[in-house]
Amino acid sequence: MTQLKNDTFLRALLKQPVDYTPIWMMRQAGRYLPEYRATRARAGSFMGLCTSPAFATEVTLQPLERFPLDAAILFSDILTVPDAMGLGLYFAEGEGPKFERNLREESAVLALQPAPLEKLQYVFDAVASIRKALDGRVPLIGFSGSPFTLACYMVEGGGSDDFRHIKGMLYSRPDLLHRILDVTATSVTAYLNAQIDAGAQAVQIFDTWGGALSHAAYKEFSLAYMQRIIAGLKREADGRRVPVIVFTKNGGQWLEEIAAIGADCVGLDWTTDIGQARARVGDKVALQGNFDPNALFGSPAAIEAEAGRILAAYGHGSGHVFNLGHGISQHANPEHAAALVAAVHQLSRQYHV
Ligand code: CP3
Repeated sequence: MTQLKNDTFLRALLKQPVDYTPIWMMRQAGRYLPEYRATRARAGSFMGLCTSPAFATEVTLQPLERFPLDAAILFSDILTVPDAMGLGLYFAEGEGPKFERNLREESAVLALQPAPLEKLQYVFDAVASIRKALDGRVPLIGFSGSPFTLACYMVEGGGSDDFRHIKGMLYSRPDLLHRILDVTATSVTAYLNAQIDAGAQAVQIFDTWGGALSHAAYKEFSLAYMQRIIAGLKREADGRRVPVIVFTKNGGQWLEEIAAIGADCVGLDWTTDIGQARARVGDKVALQGNFDPNALFGSPAAIEAEAGRILAAYGHGSGHVFNLGHGISQHANPEHAAALVAAVHQLSRQYHV
């Protein structure tokens, strides 16, 4: 295996000394980049990009050609797993993801089986192809959705602004929701381990909708299943630890609990003060985040000031991976993303002496 030329990201996740704070951006390959839109047009569709290892490799590397980012993230989507479970994923133009079949009926829930890994071979082929193309430049992150976040899309049959079907199930038939989460957690564990086998050097679990749950329900229906996944992951590859990042959007109130499920790093959105978060989790985990993605709509000087504020709030020492608190907007200006990356690299050096 090729030696990593820049392992700053992996070191920060393990709270080992670094020269500067590493940065990558959630959804760094995407529609805000004109080169992404051009490749997407050639591929014909978003799923056309995901299912072709050559296209997936091309778009994964695009943001790295523009910005000196410290990590690459597999170009794919969290919804590949429910698709492989037979739900029939499609993207209706301008409407976001949708499934041909949902899991609202008891019979559909009882018939659900873990995704056959052969159906996700295109993802593992993309991981191997990206690793080869990176040639050790920076580490490659693999990922999955959390069982609860995937269940939101599976039960609702697509995106939702109120989650009324899955919440109805949670309160009236918790047994059915637990069955979905159980099958999905089994599937996600195997899926992430296969990404690690194919060459992923860190993995992230995206719990985008766990923060929409009540205080009591979060632990039972989201956190417990992420804990089970983490317990089943391979934690070493090529003689190096494979760090695990868990990110619950809107999960700031549960940081201590999230930090206790076995992950190496906890993702933060922008609503929590990172200095206070650091004090709360102590030495247990590293933190990733917590720049408001919409702060990229400010001027480059304002972006620099906001990055400086977050770096100062985290303070001295390793254990922070700079990132956006959620995905970059398709309307973001790539020049502003460049300003953010430069500011983080430059301003963070003073905290690592
Ligand atoms: O970070 C990266 O660059 C890697 C790629 C990545 C995508 N989706 C590509 C994508 C990752 C890590 C995801 C995760 C994902 N997908 C999440 C969890 C993180 C989050 O954003 O909360 C969720 C909830 C999804 C589900 C999903 N996929 C939605 C809601 C949408 C439509 C919204 C949108 O931005 O259009 C997608 C489509 C999608 N996934 C796009 C990209 C680049 C846009 C598709 C296009 O090109 O039209």
